[in-house]
Amino acid sequence: MFRNMFFIFAALALLLGVAMSYKVEPLPDSFAGLGEGPHWDEARQSLYYVDIEAGGLLRYDYQENKVYKAKIEGEPLAGFVLPIEGRPQEFAVGCGRRVEIVQWDGVSPTAKVVRQLFQVQPLLEKNRLNDAKTDPRGRFFGGTMRYIGDEFEFRHGELYRWEAGGQTSVIKGDVGISNGLAWDEKAKKFYYIDTTDYEVKSYDYDFETGVASNPKVVFNLRKSSPKDHLLPDGLTIDTEGNLYVATFNGATIYKVNPNTGKVLLEIKFPTKQITSAAFGGPNLDILYVTTAAKFDQPAPAGTTFKVTGLNATGYPGVNLKI
Ligand SMILES: *[C@@H]1O[C@H](CO)[C@@H](O)[C@H](O)[C@H]1NC(C)=O
Repeated sequence: MFRNMFFIFAALALLLGVAMSYKVEPLPDSFAGLGEGPHWDEARQSLYYVDIEAGGLLRYDYQENKVYKAKIEGEPLAGFVLPIEGRPQEFAVGCGRRVEIVQWDGVSPTAKVVRQLFQVQPLLEKNRLNDAKTDPRGRFFGGTMRYIGDEFEFRHGELYRWEAGGQTSVIKGDVGISNGLAWDEKAKKFYYIDTTDYEVKSYDYDFETGVASNPKVVFNLRKSSPKDHLLPDGLTIDTEGNLYVATFNGATIYKVNPNTGKVLLEIKFPTKQITSAAFGGPNLDILYVTTAAKFDQPAPAGTTFKVTGLNATGYPGVNLKI
C-alpha cells in the first residue's frame, strides 16, 4: 500500500517535472501592442511578425538576437506579413481589407506599399483582415473580422483562399474573428480557429487543389475550461501533428493532440493575451510566441517570447506564390 502510494507520487512528480521543464524567455525589445502572425523565414533565419493596430512590421534576427521594426507608410493596420517567393524585399500584408505588396529591407524604420494584390469585402468598412498564412504549396489563406463594434454579435467575417493568378474563393462564411491556421500534410488536414466559436476545427485537405471539406471540432475551450472565457487565437503544429493553441486571456498555449482532443501540455506565460506561435530557430525547435498589451495590461504584455526545451519541432513558414 505505502509502496504503491510512493510510486504514484513519484510518477506525479516526474510528470510535473517534465511539464515544467521548458523555458520561457523574452526576446529583447520585441514589444508590439497587438503582436500577431509570427512567420519563421528559414532563408533569413528571422521571425517576421506584425503589430496589427500600429501598421507595424517586425523582424527578429536570430543571429543578431535583435528585433527590427518598421512602420508601413500611410497604413494604420497590418494584419499579417507573408514573404513573397522569389522577391526577398516584398511581403504580402493585410492592410484593412486589402492585401498589399509592401517593400521592406528588414532593417529600415519604414516600409512602403508597392501595389495591391487583391481586396475582400470592399463595402464592409467595419471589417478588416486578421490572421493569414500560406498553405504548404504557397497559397494564401486568411480571413476577416469585425473590428469596429462587437465581433461576437456580427459574424460578418469570411475565410478566403487566394492563388497565384488571382482567384479568390470563400472557404467559409459566418466567421466572427478569423484566426489561427495550420496544415498537416501527413494527416491531410487543415486546422482553423474562429475565436468566437471557442474551438479548433479540422478539415480534410486536398493539397493538390487547396479544397478544405468536412469540418469537425477537435478542441473546444468552452468545454475544457467553461468558467475561464479563454479565447483561442493563433495556431501552429509540430512534426508529430500536435497543435499549439494560443489563448487570448489565458496566459497559456495548449499543446493538443487533435485526434483525441487531449491536452498534452500547458505552456504558461507571465502575461495573459497570448496571440500566436510559430516554430523557428536553426533546428526549428524554438517556439516563438507573440502577445498583446490591449486594455491596459501591465508589462511584460506585448513582449514576444521564445520557448525552448519542448522536445518538439515544427515547420518553417512558406513563402507566398504570386
Ligand atoms: C524534454 O526532454 C528532456 C530530456 O529528456 C526532459 O528532461 C524534459 O522534461 C522534456 N521536456 C518536455 C517539455 O517534455
